Amino acid sequence: MNTTIKVTLTDHSKINEVDFNNLLFGRVFTDHMFECDFVDGEWVNPVIKPYGPFEVEPSARVFHYGQAVFEGMKAFKDDNDTIFMFRPDENFRRINKSAKRLAIPEFPENLFFDGLTNLLRIEKNWIKKGRGNSLYIRPFVIATEGAIAASPASKYKFMIILSPAQSYYNQDVRVLFAEKYSRSADGGVGFAKAAGNYAAQFYPTSLAHEKGYQQIIWTDASTHEYLEEAGTMNIFFRVNDMLLTAPTNDRILDGVTRKSVIQLAKDNDIEIEIRRVSVAEIKEAAKKGELLEIFGSGTAAVINPIHGFEHGGDIFDLPKLENSYASLFKQQLMDIQYNLTEDPHNWRYKV
Ligand code: COI
Repeated sequence: MNTTIKVTLTDHSKINEVDFNNLLFGRVFTDHMFECDFVDGEWVNPVIKPYGPFEVEPSARVFHYGQAVFEGMKAFKDDNDTIFMFRPDENFRRINKSAKRLAIPEFPENLFFDGLTNLLRIEKNWIKKGRGNSLYIRPFVIATEGAIAASPASKYKFMIILSPAQSYYNQDVRVLFAEKYSRSADGGVGFAKAAGNYAAQFYPTSLAHEKGYQQIIWTDASTHEYLEEAGTMNIFFRVNDMLLTAPTNDRILDGVTRKSVIQLAKDNDIEIEIRRVSVAEIKEAAKKGELLEIFGSGTAAVINPIHGFEHGGDIFDLPKLENSYASLFKQQLMDIQYNLTEDPHNWRYKV
C-alpha cells in the first residue's frame, strides 16, 4: 500500500479574496484538499491537491443509496501561531464507527492524522487568531463505485476539506419540540454521522423555519415524549441548578462537545443527570420558572443558547441570565481550544 502523500500545490491562492470578518458558515473553502481512494480492498494514493470539482460516475452508489459519512472538527491558532485541533482522536474513532454502520471500509489512523496535519500545515494562513475564529474541518467518505445494485460499493473516496469559520448561528435560536416527524429510530443510524440523517431533517426543519424556529429538538420516534438532540447539536437543560441531558444511544449522536460539557460540569461541581428528559417535565419546569436554560453543544455551534421553544401550541421564552452555564462552558471550552489555559484532560492536539 502506498501511503506517502503526494502534494500538488495551487499556483493561485484565494485567500486574499476572503473577508475573514464576515464569514457565513461553510461557504468558503481553503486552497487545498486531501483525497484518498479505496480500491481493491485497500486505501491507496493519498494526495493533497488544489480544492476543486472532481469526476464521479452518475451511477456512483453515494447518489443512489446515500452511502456516505462525515465528521466535523476544528483547528485553532493561539497567540504564538501554534495550531491545535480539539480532541481529533474522538472524531477519528467516530468516523469509523459511522463507516462500519454504513458498510464502508474503515480508514487507517496513520493516514487520517498524516493527511489532516499535512493539510493544516499547508493551510495555516487560513487559520485566524482570536476567539471565535477557527478552521472547520470536514472529513467525509463517499461510495464512488459506479453500480446501482443496492449493496455496498467496492470503491470509495475519503476526503478532507477545510472552511474558515466563525459562528454557526447568526441569530437567536428558538426551537420546536418534535411532535410528528422523527430524526432516527431504534436500531437505525441516528448515532452515526451519516449524510442521510441530515437530509431527513431538512423538510421538517423548513416547516419549523416557516413558524420562526431555527431548529427542531427531536424526540424519541416511538412516543415523542422524550427530548433527544437537535440534529446540529446535542441538547442540555438546566432546571434550577441541575443540568440534564439525554444519554447517547443508537438514535443520538455521541457528540464530542457534549462529552466535553459533561466533563466541564463535573469539573465545576455542577450537578448533572444523564437520563431521559421528558417533554412534560421540561414544560412543567418552564411553567414554574425553574427552567433556567436550554443550550446546544456541537463542533460547529460550540455552545449555543436556546431562547425559547414551542410544543403542543404552548410557547415558552427562557430567561436571560447573567451567569449562565452556557456562557461558563463556552468560555472554559474556548480557553482550552485557544491554548489560554491548562488542558487537564489532554483535549488539545498540537499540529
Ligand atoms: C458539526 O457540528 O460539526 C456538524 O457536523 C453539524 C453540521 C450540521 C454543521
